[in-house]
Amino acid sequence: MDARGGIGGSLAGLDLRAEIDRLRKERNAVILAHYYQKPELQDIADFVGDSLDLSRKAAATDAEVIAFCGVRFMAETAKILSPDKTVVLPDMDAGCSLEDSCPPDQFAAFRAQHPNAIALTYINCSAAVKALSDVIVTSSSAEKILSQIPASQPIIFGPDRNLGGYLARKTGRDLILWPGVCIVHEAFSETELLKLRAQYPDAPIAAHPECPAVILDHADFVGSTSGILAYAKEMPGDTLIVATEPHIIHQMEKAFPDKTFIGAPGADGNCNCNICPYMALNTMEKLYVALRDLEPRIEIEEGLRLKAKKSLDAMLAMASASVGMGDLGPVKVTGD
Ligand code: 13P
Ligand code: SF4
Repeated sequence: MDARGGIGGSLAGLDLRAEIDRLRKERNAVILAHYYQKPELQDIADFVGDSLDLSRKAAATDAEVIAFCGVRFMAETAKILSPDKTVVLPDMDAGCSLEDSCPPDQFAAFRAQHPNAIALTYINCSAAVKALSDVIVTSSSAEKILSQIPASQPIIFGPDRNLGGYLARKTGRDLILWPGVCIVHEAFSETELLKLRAQYPDAPIAAHPECPAVILDHADFVGSTSGILAYAKEMPGDTLIVATEPHIIHQMEKAFPDKTFIGAPGADGNCNCNICPYMALNTMEKLYVALRDLEPRIEIEEGLRLKAKKSLDAMLAMASASVGMGDLGPVKVTGD
């Protein structure tokens, strides 16, 4: 990975926490981390959050460098919103199955099949797909944003068919769905979840809306990662079954040490198959190298960035709006 000895050998013996701290100050860097990152990365970050929190933080920071412990579409979002900052991602291969499911040329063809529809698009997509979209949503902002779009407006929702299906069921809106899925949330097993529920009959189940409907149907609470964390505070009882990427349990155990959190199982009966393989590529060693070398760096061509920024700006405005349904008026379909 790196000309100066790569990850491993030459880093042996380094106090990585201290070195990352030193570089963070030297570089005037902020370290942002998603809840699905390894505990040590969450603990060293200046800020840990869900996709919306992280986008807001990236847009507002004064730092010169953003070291993004998350996946590529998140770091790209940071660069789109803060183009003058250097944005580094510890491992550039940290992608996302939802992004992979939605190549921009196929998405453009899909849009062309539905000329009257606007594209409401989940943030888990490439910059090119954001540029083809009207409004971006995250799992924590999707419902609020959808409520501001007139009921008569046809809507394409991609790339996550599970989140789209959940929104359609919850709001009664007829969404035209792109058929992508998150491989992590698809891996939960209904059979194993029911076995676990029989073992802990009083424990509620909290699930992320990227889970398929067969899992969501058993959930007492459905929400984004930050929503699930908030539910962990308010839930009845002291044991929670968590149907999302299990690294979020680290924050729960820190915040509520007297409660018990159990990761929902996959088909093999444990929650390790639900670790996101993309998020798992980031390590303390790679974060250190990224801060040291300011590489791998996110670069986005300016024309593409400006197009992608429109749909992200629409998200940030609509997610913060204190307006009722329809108050923002019809959302303009991207014309160019
Ligand atoms: P949120 O943190 O916004 O709920 O998103 C979950 C996710 O899958 C990120 O990749
Ligand atoms: Fe993508 Fe799923 Fe991993 Fe999130 S958990 S980054 S949606 S593959």
